[in-house]
Amino acid sequence: MDCRIINLSKYLDRRGNLSVIEECKDIPFEIKRTYWIYDVPGGEHRGGHAYRRNREFIVAMSGSFDVTVDDGHSHTTYSLNRSYYGLYIPEGTWRDLNNFSTNSLALILASTPYDPADYIEDYDLYRQEYLSKDSDGNE
Ligand code: TYD
Repeated sequence: MDCRIINLSKYLDRRGNLSVIEECKDIPFEIKRTYWIYDVPGGEHRGGHAYRRNREFIVAMSGSFDVTVDDGHSHTTYSLNRSYYGLYIPEGTWRDLNNFSTNSLALILASTPYDPADYIEDYDLYRQEYLSKDSDGNE
């Protein structure tokens, strides 16, 4: 699976710290969209789908949460709890966000504009679509 944690630059300062994300430099795509998830009630989860084209970079700007990624073969859970690193998720990855702490804030940078047709929301369909491809995405 090509998901990976990317560490961001950290400018430590007695006045407070600063981190930065530049498109195509710190993360491997152009940013077409930014959204965030907040005020998640205890026990709720977000996601539970895959995107055919969209790639994402997810940062815990505040608090903590887990991201489980699944390529149809295996799954891995990443705990995000600092704003100076994030999780890169390539297209074609099933993903689920859960275990949100109180007051957590998930920032998501996306490589495509919002497109409902890009979503795969049924896990069985996802497996059918993706398990027939090899690791390079060929049929
Ligand atoms: P959804 O992607 O299903 O959220 P999650 O994956 O976190 O569970 O989106 C929830 C709602 O927000 C849905 O009605 C569509 C809307 N939405 C947009 O209009 N634009 C966006 O960029 C996103 C991500 C969602």
